[in-house]
Amino acid sequence: MSVTIIVGSQWGDEGKGKIVDILSEKFDIVVRYQGGANAGHTVRAGESQFILHLVPSGILRKSVICVIGNGVVVDPEALLNEIKQLENLGISVKGRLLISQNAHLIMPYHKILDSINESGASKIGTTGRGIGPCYIDKYDRRGIRFADLLDKNILAEKIRFNVQEKNNLLEKLYNRAGLDVEKIIKEYSAFIEDLGRYITDTPLFLSEAISNGKSILLEGAQGALLDVDHGTYPYVTSSSPTSGGAVTGSGIPPTKISSVIGVVKAYTTRVGLGPFPTELLDEDGEKLRTIGAEFGATTGRPRRCGWYDAFLVSYSSMINGIDSAAVTKLDVLSHFDEIKVCVGYELSGKRLKSYPTSVNLMSEVKPVYETLKGWKRELSTITSYDQLPAEAKDYLEFIAKQSGFKIRMIGVGADRNQIIEL
Ligand code: GDP
Ligand code: IMO
Ligand code: MG
Repeated sequence: MSVTIIVGSQWGDEGKGKIVDILSEKFDIVVRYQGGANAGHTVRAGESQFILHLVPSGILRKSVICVIGNGVVVDPEALLNEIKQLENLGISVKGRLLISQNAHLIMPYHKILDSINESGASKIGTTGRGIGPCYIDKYDRRGIRFADLLDKNILAEKIRFNVQEKNNLLEKLYNRAGLDVEKIIKEYSAFIEDLGRYITDTPLFLSEAISNGKSILLEGAQGALLDVDHGTYPYVTSSSPTSGGAVTGSGIPPTKISSVIGVVKAYTTRVGLGPFPTELLDEDGEKLRTIGAEFGATTGRPRRCGWYDAFLVSYSSMINGIDSAAVTKLDVLSHFDEIKVCVGYELSGKRLKSYPTSVNLMSEVKPVYETLKGWKRELSTITSYDQLPAEAKDYLEFIAKQSGFKIRMIGVGADRNQIIEL
């Protein structure tokens, strides 16, 4: 029995999908524990490429049961589309997908409110998937959950209550047209037909699985610096992608967790607004974006790119309790003569001891760099650590030491086979 958490260690898009896909070959169950269709997890297997938004990346391994945990906010239409797309590619979810009865539903008004919030001064560059407004309703105790789909009367009552309130906001505050409540009731009542079979008590299922010796992988979305508590607030998402969130978002108690694996990109990227001390706004940034194909898997937006930030990842290691790391996209750095690594931040000429998550401080810090020699060699066919060029090994050892983790996997290409396991 083992319960392993996979977390994104930076600002998301570290390559979690690929790592979960590889590891899930040896696991019985994969659980998504937070976020929603804001996530885009890519798995490339030969000629096929899968981008998963809600269904756990373990679904590509036919023996794995996938669970959408209570911490996830689910857009039912997006989920049905994803299931259809998977089935078109020959991946059936039948008998292999479970959804927590306590997972919240993204409603049409959540997406509208997300876009209204993004049109004002408090814009943070969200994915527009209704994530923030859905979590607001969850914590305001007026959310609608999968369990509510099981009773048409309760569902209609909850939708009426919410739409009335949201229409007030839309019409009176935002000067917009209100929503047709009966249309939403009809649309959401119909979801039970296609989704009802997956709804269950997932914490009970997971508890029994642990008692029966099954192994479980918990798949995080986003990354530690997008965590609502530990990230660069307010430029964060509205859930807890860090390892603590895996516990509340799945119902698996902390005493059952065996290990935490951090997925760490060999450089840094960020989508959306917010501080990014090692961002490169020059040719090197463009080079990382082009060679690394750094465009959002969900929204297609160009990702902001910069050097590896060891100060940030050491903070992430601390918050998550990362005991080993999968370093991804090392191959992308093969094209640089010199590679910089940020080893700390300076503020008014003084080195900071602790990571500043306050946006005001973040905008004033200056990254302190060390420069390492590049290896200028293709890595894409390398299968063992020994075959890596000496400079690549030096780079890995340096970032591991500076960030406080031990490396267990190294990605040298997008394909599921392009991985070095230590
Ligand atoms: P996630 O959200 O953390 O799952 O990451 P995304 O899928 O959004 O972004 C990671 C991107 O990098 C995807 O296009 C992956 O196919 C790709 N990728 C993952 N690992 C590697 C790697 O080691 N090398 C290269 N070149 N690409 C990788
Ligand atoms: P994966 O799982 C990268 C970012 C958005 C925005 C902020 C808030 O693929 O790593 P939201 O829509 O969540 O309210 O947006 O968070 N963001 C991500 N950035 N990868 C993701 O997911 C992200 N999910 C949200 O760009 O800055
Ligand atoms: Mg992604």
